[in-house]
Amino acid sequence: MGFPDVRPRRLRRTPALRRMVSETEVAAHQLVLPLFVREGATEPNPIASMPGVVQHTRDSLKKAAAEAVAAGLGGVMLFGIPEHKDATGSGATDPHGILNLAITDVVAEVGDQLTVMSDLCLDEFTDHGHCGVLDPDGNVDNDRTLEVYAAMAVAQAAAGVDLVGPSGMMDGQVGVVRQALDAEHYTGTGILAYSAKYASAFFGPFREAVDSSLQGDRRTYQQDPANRLEGVREARLDVAEGADIVMVKPAMGYLDVVSAVREAVDVPVAAYNVSGEFAMVEAAAAHGWIDREAAILETLTSIRRAGADVVLTYWALEAAQLLRR
Ligand code: PBG
Repeated sequence: MGFPDVRPRRLRRTPALRRMVSETEVAAHQLVLPLFVREGATEPNPIASMPGVVQHTRDSLKKAAAEAVAAGLGGVMLFGIPEHKDATGSGATDPHGILNLAITDVVAEVGDQLTVMSDLCLDEFTDHGHCGVLDPDGNVDNDRTLEVYAAMAVAQAAAGVDLVGPSGMMDGQVGVVRQALDAEHYTGTGILAYSAKYASAFFGPFREAVDSSLQGDRRTYQQDPANRLEGVREARLDVAEGADIVMVKPAMGYLDVVSAVREAVDVPVAAYNVSGEFAMVEAAAAHGWIDREAAILETLTSIRRAGADVVLTYWALEAAQLLRR
């Protein structure tokens, strides 16, 4: 019996060797914390399917943003839950709507120490729970929705957001948002485009987080989980329309899409480690079935390894702590 010619195990022998040859790093400044704020809330309201995550009050949201600064995070992504929802999601474009007020609050709190981002979509604001306005037959009307997105983008920019995050998967949304921002002289407000966003069962807990009343599904606008090339195409279109950052969502089941998009475009790529991915790890860990902290770090490392420059994750604050150890 001969000796192996090559012994990859040599570089795994000590922690110092492993650290030296590690190919992928996760750093706090690459992480973005999604935050929910609920209109009229007087106490932070726990979200049962997302242990440790809450619907914030305007006050507790500011504290969470300050914690994000202290932890050295890259940014926060804000979601608003209005008290009253209606067919056109009018709370989204109202300058006094909860999300626009929350942007102003957070920007006042953190200044330019943190990148402040906001979800630009109607599903949190509509009584039917779809990401756009409906036509008389009950279908999501792409082009009428674009008009609302344009107004929503301008309201968010006026509130001071750094990056708007169009996430409704309407055709042409990035171009329309860019034109609307520029026309109002918000040329410095950027776009983080949810480019390759799939019709995923892993958004389940998010529906509870934003009190969504969605009936049916989003398959006429979000992508089929079977399609990788289509994700690359959507990312390329968004770059052509003016996206500053493109995003793939969800992350864990779509690492091949993250990798393909990273190869295809020359802007930063983000990936969203979504609510259902978070809930799965939390639930298994609560049963003692997996090592929670190791699973969190492995998840984030895998998403970075696939090619994501930025990771949106509900674990951002905790991961920053774990990474300091
Ligand atoms: C749309 C939006 C959703 C999520 C982020 N932005 C829900 C959806 O498209 O159905 C999901 C995020 C998560 O599951 O963590 N406003």
